[in-house]
Amino acid sequence: SDPDLDLFIFGATGDLSVRKLLPALYMAHLHGNLPTGARILAVGRQALSREAFIQQVLGGARQFIEARSLQAEAWDRFEALIDYVALDATAPEDFARLARHSRAGAQRVFYLATAPALFTRICAHLAGAGLVDAQARVVLEKPLGHDMASARAINAEVGRFFEEQQIFRIDHYLGKETVQNLMVLRFGNAIFEPLWRAPFIRSVQITVAETVGVGSRAGFYDGTGALRDMVQNHLLQMLCIVAMEPPVSLDPDAIRDEKLKVLRSLRPMGPAEIARDVIRGQYTAGAVQQRAATGYLQEDGVPPDSRTETFVSLKAHIDNWRWGNVPFFLRTGKCLAERCSEIVIDFAGQPFSLFPDTYRSAGNRLVIRLQPEESVQLQIMAKEPGSGMRRRPVSLDLDLHTAFTERRAEAYERLLIDVIRGRLTHFMRHDELEAAWAWVEPILHGWAAQGDAPRPYAAGTWGPAASSALMARHDMQWSEEA
Ligand code: BG6
Repeated sequence: SDPDLDLFIFGATGDLSVRKLLPALYMAHLHGNLPTGARILAVGRQALSREAFIQQVLGGARQFIEARSLQAEAWDRFEALIDYVALDATAPEDFARLARHSRAGAQRVFYLATAPALFTRICAHLAGAGLVDAQARVVLEKPLGHDMASARAINAEVGRFFEEQQIFRIDHYLGKETVQNLMVLRFGNAIFEPLWRAPFIRSVQITVAETVGVGSRAGFYDGTGALRDMVQNHLLQMLCIVAMEPPVSLDPDAIRDEKLKVLRSLRPMGPAEIARDVIRGQYTAGAVQQRAATGYLQEDGVPPDSRTETFVSLKAHIDNWRWGNVPFFLRTGKCLAERCSEIVIDFAGQPFSLFPDTYRSAGNRLVIRLQPEESVQLQIMAKEPGSGMRRRPVSLDLDLHTAFTERRAEAYERLLIDVIRGRLTHFMRHDELEAAWAWVEPILHGWAAQGDAPRPYAAGTWGPAASSALMARHDMQWSEEA
């Protein structure tokens, strides 16, 4: 039978815990996916009683759970699993006190949803209090560093107390059903892989567009920006899964080895490429889906002269045999026209057209949507009804919500269950993290050297016009323009 589980959440009163972790744990509990001997030790700086934590913090987390999943009996049993421990992460004696809450022989999982500056200290104090044994696991929430040096330091410091296979570096995009489905689409079918390369693929687009602004997170976001917040992790991880070679097995390291090769093949950008192929934007006042939106510089907590980017689009190249000269266009931003995360595989045009229409290319695209809906579409040409042989683009649509009626867990729920079961596949390895920083960091330096401000774009648009121009230079268009 499963060992008892003591799951510690550091930063338990924080935003991520309230919006994602506590709801995910409740859902896992509701569906019988927590081991029978599970307990949750919520750890935070605030001096709260258990009752106050349950009332205020867990009460807040309830709002992020769908009403139909809130079942009184399951909720009461979930509450009973939770205890709260107030702790100062800099005080070793507090960890000795924490140790008294943990059961001998229990499997311990430490979820660090705190500022990364605290990771090292927390790990050292956990070890000092005798809480880190060979079966313990630690989960590190992003941002995993601010640059290469800080990412390396986190890896090295945490590595003093935990072996690599005990460390779970979260990128919640890897927990999304559709991202995981990409592996099956590519390697669980035989028809795509022969075409999955240059010259049959002309370009790849990866977009994560959000309609929300920074909201109440300016304190974190203004020191971070879209490149660090989204591109360094979520977009590059998706790029890896789109671009990697077939792994030799589903073993976590087999997959992570292939992803690492992609990251290491990314063509480094110099000042000229950064100036030409990386567009950085910042939203100004506008309207997002008919609702007035404040400009970034007017948001609470944002300095009025901030140069933090809230939008990035860029052209990347993967210098290897498969992808020689196929551009990968990555794009993400806040306060954009629509919430939409998708991967678009743009297949090469036909060498010659037989048909009397104006389409220059066959326009075949495979569109993999992660959000808001989960779908796969293949755009093909079909004959227009009637006499003549004119073509028109149509789409083969697979709606994954219709195809599968099973419940689909949220990313955090799935990843938490993976941690509990010790499955590392959907987590980043230390060398992946460093390889991603190695590619991203020169862009940050390049921007600093340019010394200019991001380009303004009105909230509710698709970003600065330069982003469309980036595509147009290659005679291409972003998917919403095509
Ligand atoms: C987080 C970023 O990692 O991802 C946020 O810090 C962003 O800024 C979020 O809003 C987007 O995640 P999702 O799952 O809502 O697409």
